[in-house]
Amino acid sequence: MQNPSDQVRAAEETPRGYGSMKRKEDARFVRGRGQYVDDIVLPRMLHGAVLRSPLAHARIVSIDTSAAEAHPRVHAVITGETLAGLGLAWMPTLSNDVQAVLATDKVRFQGQEVAFVVADDKYTARDALGLIDVEYEPLDPVIDAKQALAEGMPVIRDDKDKTDNHIFDWESGDRARTDAIFAEAEAADDQVVVVEDMLYPRVHPAPLETCGSIADMDPVSGKLTIYTTTQAPHAHRTLYALVAGLPEHKLRVVSPDIGGGFGNKVGIYPGYVCSIVGSIVTGRPVKWMEDRSENLMSTSFARDYHMRGEVAVTRDGKIRAVRVHVLADHGAFNGTAQPTAFPAGFFGVFTGSYDLEAAHCGVTGVYTNKASGGVAYACSFRITEAVYLIERMVDVVAHDLGLDPAELRMRNLLRPEQFPYETATGWVYDSGDYPRTLQVALDKAGYGDLRAEQAELRRRHDAGERVKLMGIGLSFFTEAVGAGPRRTMDIMGLGMADGAELRVHPTGKAVLRISVQSQGQGHETTFAQIAAKELGISPDDVEVVHGDSDQTPFGLGTYGSRSTPVSGAATAMVARKVRERAKIVAAAMMEVSVEDLEWQETGRWQVAGDPDASVSMAEIAMASHSNLELPEGVEGHLDATVVYNPPNLTYPCGAYLCVVDVDPGTGDVDVRRFVAVDDCGVRINPMIVEGQVHGGLADGVGMALMQGIAFDLDGNCLGGSMMDYLLPTSLECPSWELGETVTPSPHHPIGAKGVGESATVGSPPAVVNAVVDALAPFGVRHADMPLTPAAVWSAAQGRPLRT
Ligand code: CDP
Repeated sequence: MQNPSDQVRAAEETPRGYGSMKRKEDARFVRGRGQYVDDIVLPRMLHGAVLRSPLAHARIVSIDTSAAEAHPRVHAVITGETLAGLGLAWMPTLSNDVQAVLATDKVRFQGQEVAFVVADDKYTARDALGLIDVEYEPLDPVIDAKQALAEGMPVIRDDKDKTDNHIFDWESGDRARTDAIFAEAEAADDQVVVVEDMLYPRVHPAPLETCGSIADMDPVSGKLTIYTTTQAPHAHRTLYALVAGLPEHKLRVVSPDIGGGFGNKVGIYPGYVCSIVGSIVTGRPVKWMEDRSENLMSTSFARDYHMRGEVAVTRDGKIRAVRVHVLADHGAFNGTAQPTAFPAGFFGVFTGSYDLEAAHCGVTGVYTNKASGGVAYACSFRITEAVYLIERMVDVVAHDLGLDPAELRMRNLLRPEQFPYETATGWVYDSGDYPRTLQVALDKAGYGDLRAEQAELRRRHDAGERVKLMGIGLSFFTEAVGAGPRRTMDIMGLGMADGAELRVHPTGKAVLRISVQSQGQGHETTFAQIAAKELGISPDDVEVVHGDSDQTPFGLGTYGSRSTPVSGAATAMVARKVRERAKIVAAAMMEVSVEDLEWQETGRWQVAGDPDASVSMAEIAMASHSNLELPEGVEGHLDATVVYNPPNLTYPCGAYLCVVDVDPGTGDVDVRRFVAVDDCGVRINPMIVEGQVHGGLADGVGMALMQGIAFDLDGNCLGGSMMDYLLPTSLECPSWELGETVTPSPHHPIGAKGVGESATVGSPPAVVNAVVDALAPFGVRHADMPLTPAAVWSAAQGRPLRT
């Protein structure tokens, strides 16, 4: 890996384009000058707190708020009944369901919102919650997704007149063709069918900053300003307008600095709505900021996929078909986040990076008494689950057939000449050189030497010596990021295209306005770099404005690594539009025809073949604002707008290799090495890309080894604090060893693919495969995440923990 300071130096030498320049936003972040929602203090601001249900499933008999209302520092107590009067007791979810803002009839998960207190300060608001008396009639909870559809189970969503807990059935691929191949494989001597059940447990994005909002309704102008932790300010504004009937032009959603989103801040939470109602009721700004436990227990979770994978494969290792069934636990309200036509997100990419004859999957969604969600936690809508499934299955096949997992992958990976490649489930992968990417990872890791070391350790273990067992885990992933083409992708009817506006001021300094919202990914830097490269100016001369619906063009926001594929493309396109306008002005300045001009990377329009006749972007900018006579129909000034509708997703890929040392006596796992070779096409800022990969790898280690939100049989959440829900620290992470291959996306204007979530997607299977590989001497074939010491030890004893 290149030393970061060398990268910075290299970038400083080439300030006009791409390269590892330092992040512009760090100037405020490292000085503690970031401005997060909780830093904002408005005059006369009040504070809200949410009363939450202690029970997972109970009927509400009565709510007595009189004592809280009588508190001298309390300004309002809002209940579901108050909201029902305004038509706001229920709100739509991102999955076409409805969710209670404040419970009216029943509570359906532990931590559900029941009442909202508005007080002078947050301590009073919290204290006053204790003055509210709620009488509950407990009901049996439904906790085990596998039991949710059983005869006689309590019905969670009786508000919808449902008679069971079924949400949806969805399928993808060709069932008949897939079944036929499986039948053939079962009958043929030279083929086998390999089956494994696995769980991708419920995990939580757990961003550093929890969720919150400040609603400020100006009773005079009728303008409502909402400062909120959202990854999608424009979508929130439109949804507030649609749901609450507020006029959209009187709504302003500001998303200031955001301390991590990872999908947690895509949806609208009851607390946001309550702060708005609180402000309307009191006529004063109302801030609501949840605490850590509230965030972990009640905001959107991710995963919770119970999966059965089946692979039809020849005995010499050619994978023919994959069949999958998923039971998806969506909690009490179906609030999963994905484009409307994809109830299981992009799980359809479960065919992975392999050339298959056929594939089919069926997904059944069920309600349980848990918080709603199913957010795209650092992945593009369920791709993490899909990649985990196929990469775990490939290792299970290798195990059963006695093949080397690297060799098995090499035999089945798509070859470069097969791109664009249409998968058996209809996704068109844009580009990649998968065998080369895997080979780079194997070479970097020294795969042969690692296997030799492993063999020696196993020999010593078999001889009775007490040694740590070494495991080597591989994964090869393909992501599908940049949602998405608007003909097929929308969220609640809003098409997934993004706008960009670029204005070059008279002195040649530019302001770029984008619709996506950074949560720490460095957009203010990389998007300035994109515009700067197209205009031939320094990124320091481009200011990026984002996160304010009054200041920026419409777009659907940042999640699913879509910013660079969609908004990055919009930025390049708008800058090219400005460059073309600049060309007309340049021709007028030099009194030549536009056809005579050619663009110089140095940022000048030059008369072809005459280096002495050229003008810079700054000179053009000044001239375009002057009294220079322009051709008929050409407007002055230098600006442009675009809306970018991506023709396809981009498909980054990567080959990951993890080396673990497992203590068979305690089950303790030490991640010794992690090699990650990513291909995200053209890299705008390699240092930022590496930072994104580092974060995702740490996330993956956490999910594989320690993260998991469990529930007891009464529905009590067992992961409601960071004492129970463990996040990885530098102690659990090795020094990452990164590599790259570069296959540009053929349809993206600058050839870039998204990368923000690649590592979170690709790393969990590599870690799990490594741990299972380490346990091979114990005959272990699979063990579910999180691979805590207890889970690893149990697996080694032949009793893998199953949820
Ligand atoms: O949507 P999100 O910003 O989370 O993900 P992304 O588009 O993959 O970008 C993450 C960060 O990496 C942004 O600052 C990107 O501009 C940067 N990036 C890059 O420099 N080169 C790429 N090929 C992809 C992303």
